[in-house]
Amino acid sequence: MANILVTGGAGYIGSHTCLELLNAGHEVIVFDNLSNGSGESLRRVEKLANNSLDFVQGDIRCQDELDRVFQNYQIDAVIHFAGLKAVGESQQIPLTYFDHNIAGSIQLFKSMQKAGVFSLVFSSSATVYGELNPSPYQEDMPLSLPNNNYGYTKLVIEQMLEKMALADARWSIALLRYFNPVGAHKSGQIGEDPRGIPNNLMPYVTQVAIGRREKLSIFGHDYPTKDGTCERDFIHVVDLAKAHVLALSNRLNNQGCRAWNIGTGAPISVLQIKETFEKVNGVQIPTEFAERRSGDLPAFYADASRAKNELGWQPQYTLEDMLADSWNWQKHNPNGFS
Ligand code: NAD
Ligand code: WQD
Repeated sequence: MANILVTGGAGYIGSHTCLELLNAGHEVIVFDNLSNGSGESLRRVEKLANNSLDFVQGDIRCQDELDRVFQNYQIDAVIHFAGLKAVGESQQIPLTYFDHNIAGSIQLFKSMQKAGVFSLVFSSSATVYGELNPSPYQEDMPLSLPNNNYGYTKLVIEQMLEKMALADARWSIALLRYFNPVGAHKSGQIGEDPRGIPNNLMPYVTQVAIGRREKLSIFGHDYPTKDGTCERDFIHVVDLAKAHVLALSNRLNNQGCRAWNIGTGAPISVLQIKETFEKVNGVQIPTEFAERRSGDLPAFYADASRAKNELGWQPQYTLEDMLADSWNWQKHNPNGFS
């Protein structure tokens, strides 16, 4: 069992991953500035795991704070979630995104190197495949520039990590390319709690269902897809969290830099999400069709065979589980963690 530093561990995917790490017997140290995460999520993780973790409040852009963590704890590996993730916002304030995501990651990698810690799992995204690759996306496809600044930061960090691993064989790096994470832990105790108006589809749907938003706008219904709405590869956050535990043990025993898609491989349309959510949960989602959202691709989904073959990872949860668990979380926490 290992001591794992989890940056951004108080956020949506981070909190679910901390729970899986504790359940697998690891020691967990969370480093998070709480700009979009919550201390309450970590208290609930501890309760669910019946085990404790350590929390250090700090910012990955601050080298001293990071160095102190590596001095105070004997860290074996790092899972790096911390960063900003709102695509639209990244178009308004690119420099802030470059600072948190790129500069912050560089500080982290420097602290790791100084401390002699070379095992890393990095939160990447399907966005690195850019606009030109056909689905299903495969890991060895040439990457291309994403059409937004958020995606650009993920591509830059991936490329930096590859170059670092080429230059120094001590690095062992997993690039996990998430597709569209949704759902929540079955307990309904932890889940996605976006601040302000949700950017992503699923929290918007659940906030309409709970009455916090009036109606769902479906962005575009004339795409070249089966029902005219966009298609995405939705992945249950608990399946995603488990992929981190597997990637971690793979990296603790291997060298180099390796990418894995983490998706189900099944394209699901936005309309299908709305209709299945209503059916599974017995709740109506008032909906209107609206203009296409700038920058949206019609459809993308994963070829997830590499993760299956190399990590032994396979998603366990169905679309119905994802939608039931998202609603279960929202229903029991109408205002999130607050
Ligand atoms: P989140 O916002 O819930 O979690 C990110 C956490 O990082 C938050 O707790 C926040 O407080 C913290 N943080 C932000 N900037 C920080 C900084 N400078 N220093 C320290 N902590 C900081 O997001 P999430 O959905 O859990 O995503 C986690 C990671 O996965 C992110 O890197 C994101 O880009 C990536 N990702 C997310 C999705 C998605 O759809 N949710 C998809 C692909 C990749
Ligand atoms: C999904 C579909 C929308 C909201 C983004 C990032 C990607 C990754 C995951 C981090 C699209 C439609 C949405 C709404 C809608 N993040 N939609 N009404 O854009 O596939 O991916 O999050 O790495 O990089 O780009 O996810 O949830 O925003 O949208 O119709 O109110 O739902 O148009 O077709 P997306 P999303």
